[in-house]
Amino acid sequence: GYDISKLLGETGNVTLDAGFTNTASCTSAITYIDGGEGILRYRGYPIEQLAESSNFLETSYLLIYGELPTPAQLTDFEDRVREHTMLHEDLKGFFGGFPRDAHPMPVLSSAVSALSTFYQDSLDPFDQEQVEISTIRLLAKLPTIAAYAYKKSIGQPFLYPDNDHSLVENFLRMTFGVPATEYEIDPEIVKAVELLLILHADHEQNCSTSTVRLVGSSHANLFASVSAGINALFGPLHGGANQAVLEMLERIQNAEYSTDEFMKKVKDKEDGVRLMGFGHRVYKNYDPRAAIIKDTAHTILQKTGGGDELLEIAMRLEEIALADDYFVERKLYPNVDFYTGLIYKSMGFPTRMFTVLFALGRLPGWIAQWREMIADPTTKIGRPRQVYTGEGARDYVALNQR
Ligand code: ACO
Repeated sequence: GYDISKLLGETGNVTLDAGFTNTASCTSAITYIDGGEGILRYRGYPIEQLAESSNFLETSYLLIYGELPTPAQLTDFEDRVREHTMLHEDLKGFFGGFPRDAHPMPVLSSAVSALSTFYQDSLDPFDQEQVEISTIRLLAKLPTIAAYAYKKSIGQPFLYPDNDHSLVENFLRMTFGVPATEYEIDPEIVKAVELLLILHADHEQNCSTSTVRLVGSSHANLFASVSAGINALFGPLHGGANQAVLEMLERIQNAEYSTDEFMKKVKDKEDGVRLMGFGHRVYKNYDPRAAIIKDTAHTILQKTGGGDELLEIAMRLEEIALADDYFVERKLYPNVDFYTGLIYKSMGFPTRMFTVLFALGRLPGWIAQWREMIADPTTKIGRPRQVYTGEGARDYVALNQR
């Protein structure tokens, strides 16, 4: 109901696109999504093939450098990452300063932000060497930071990385291992975590990635930009969704309400209740990542023997939704997070760590997108316009006359 021409004043032509549903903020050669067809490709490679055959570090290399590595390139990349998994002892000290019940996501973003203070050879985004070493440091250190955030929350001592292990093995060891006891690596669990990380590795201009690019467009360094991305991911409509899904399933399991009562609440939009893990801004068809992960959910839950009842509730919700006009008309299908929380829980991760695992997975995407943006000479500082809807000009009224 506004007279747009009056509201614009001197700003000229401005497009109002709340939530940027139709506005591209950049060009990108990294990730292709066809939401209608349910297609996702990294650098042209279908997600299904990468999920089947790649591992997380190889996929990270692909996203960041644009091509699959040769065997020599992959070995070199793995070696360089392995070299940087340790945290500076003073950075380790940071963890002692947070309350024990702190959510690990703000701990993660704070520690990543602090990397700029420990590695001041990271401050020039146009210095290739600085960008390269910051890339390796981030990939290497984020799993260590994530494991320490968890150890802090349960009051256990930190384990140093053991670089005889792969990045994912090391992360699991530092998370679930205890000092002086050999942590038994389960290859099936490692494979499932690798898969989950690959599925989350990039998703073009989502909220956190757009945040990384926007912050980086002011020429803030990689650590500052990624720290901002972690904070964007913290929100329940984005990375926090996997945690929200599990909490929703547990409420139904604890008989707070039946499945049908819950679905009625969702459809009536009672108190803004949503079927968490359903719907996606881009996918208006089954999220291809959800299709891949659904099978893994069955395999891992069978193996760990945990969460069967929750999986049943999830499958029942999905079954109802896929046959219900409310969801069909709005093209609401399960997204990647509908099943991931169940898998993480059965592996022993507490709910609060789920979004941290999402961040570990999304990291190579953030890095690749930030590097692409910085390397593009047409990049300008991100600065959206607005349509002003406030008061017209009026005179100040003295305090004693109000
Ligand atoms: N449950 C019930 N209704 C929903 C849901 C849902 N999960 N998602 C969307 N809708 C409804 C909306 O109420 C709206 O209905 P209306 O047309 O009657 O007003 C319609 O579907 C369109 O929804 P929007 O919110 O406009 O869609 P948008 O693209 O802005 O939102 C989002 C996408 C945020 C993912 C949304 O579907 C949602 O909140 N889902 C639940 C949270 C979630 O799972 N997030 C994870 C996203 S994936 C990721 O980050 C990896």
